[in-house]
Amino acid sequence: MKRTEIKQLLTEEKVGEKVTIKGWVKAFRANRFIQLNDGSTINHIQCVVDFESMDKAVLDRVTIGSAVSISGAVVASQGSGQSIEVEVETIEIIGDAHPDEVSKTILQPKKHSLEFLREQAHLRFRTNLGGAVFRIRHAVSYAIHKYFNDNGYYYIHTPIITGSDAEGAGEMFRVSTLDPKNPPLKEDGSVNWEEDFFGKETNLTVSGQLEAELAALALGKVYTFGPTFRAENSNTARHLAEFWMIEPEVAFADIHDNMDLAEDFLSYICKYVMENNAEDLQFLHDREVKEDSQKPQAERNEMPLMDRLKFVVDNDFARITYTEAIEILQNSKPYKKKKFKFPVEWGLDLQSEHERFLVEKHFKKPVIIVDYPASFKAFYMRLNEDGKTVAAMDILFPGIGEIIGGSQREERYDVLKKKIDEFNIPQEELWWYLETRKFGTVPHAGFGLGFERMVMFVTGMTNIRDVIPFPRTPKKAEF
Ligand code: 4AD
Ligand code: MG
Repeated sequence: MKRTEIKQLLTEEKVGEKVTIKGWVKAFRANRFIQLNDGSTINHIQCVVDFESMDKAVLDRVTIGSAVSISGAVVASQGSGQSIEVEVETIEIIGDAHPDEVSKTILQPKKHSLEFLREQAHLRFRTNLGGAVFRIRHAVSYAIHKYFNDNGYYYIHTPIITGSDAEGAGEMFRVSTLDPKNPPLKEDGSVNWEEDFFGKETNLTVSGQLEAELAALALGKVYTFGPTFRAENSNTARHLAEFWMIEPEVAFADIHDNMDLAEDFLSYICKYVMENNAEDLQFLHDREVKEDSQKPQAERNEMPLMDRLKFVVDNDFARITYTEAIEILQNSKPYKKKKFKFPVEWGLDLQSEHERFLVEKHFKKPVIIVDYPASFKAFYMRLNEDGKTVAAMDILFPGIGEIIGGSQREERYDVLKKKIDEFNIPQEELWWYLETRKFGTVPHAGFGLGFERMVMFVTGMTNIRDVIPFPRTPKKAEF
């Protein structure tokens, strides 16, 4: 008999029909009730066994974690909690899971710490939490492609191996085929990269933006969505060494168009997940409410998960300049009471404690900060009239901090050339980028959304390692 997926079975509720379902055993209670899940939905189907009439040797192998195929009739459920169940006629064991082995793992049905879950990435997808998070991660990814496709953007695949440092932060992973023990040397003793695979130094990309700009200056509206690598040694709950970034780039657009796009885009994603992942979202929502109830008041979320998503959809983001942000911070209680660890001064970058204050305490909603000092922002951002700030924007989210970084780009050849020189970026690294400003240059803008930070926001997870299947962080590349 053709297999029916549990999601379909629970949606259609075809009482009386004979079905075959395949999945993993979540629980087997009282020698009678098998809870089965196949990953298609967070919900399990209850299969009811008539113990007396079944082969005991087979029933013995129906243990937590084992894979089984069950055939039987769909009936209205007697118990509460589900509207239908399956009356088991036959059970076939597809794959055993030995209880002794299972008892040492996160498959054991009880509460496990997130740390323990992370150590078992090979089984993490099987947990209710892992299933909910990774189904939503998929939905967010799909929503992003749908949003851009529906709005006339083209998906551009930018290279993963690059010869330039787009962000100029020097936090890159080297790509080389040279023998590290015995590299070819030049006369002065330095490594001769000309003998390397690409005939020059290459790295894993930190951003697809520069290449996306080339495409935007021909196709008009484009976006990238790919893996991004940063060798920054920050072991925080918001940083990964390998993460995914979405970077739209739009020709004939300025910083205001950029803000409008970002706000509309982020709202769309929240709305999409609310409409399409209701059950997984409810699970995560309830889980958070329960966890919060066990925390001291000060550590609880101001709003529960679903309300936070709705809030983003229903409300405009606050928009302020960097200069205004500095003023708000300098007039704040924590500043006056010397509670901030880092100084607040025009010209210094905002630290995460400052961003959190603005978003979580002052505005209590997403905030877009624009017009940052040129001194600590990337070379490609457009210089404002004042000569000291650039048309940069950061979007800060409650509980997350910076979720988007973007800018209007410097489209003026002379100004850009000067910047590249000031930043000591070698011409041979970026000549192709500079060239675009010679052939019909136009105002253009774009931004980068950290995919995992967005998934954190919509799932309510507070550690970025819990929203990517195989996290890469300093000293960790297991699995
Ligand atoms: O602010 P960033 O560095 O901006 C850029 O890379 C620009 N080229 C984007 C553009 O204008 N096209 O990074 C963009 C976003 C951040 O706001 C953050 O959400 C995420 O990428 N991000 C990280 N996410 C996880 N781990 C890290 N180490 C991250 N670094 C940045
Ligand atoms: Mg940034």
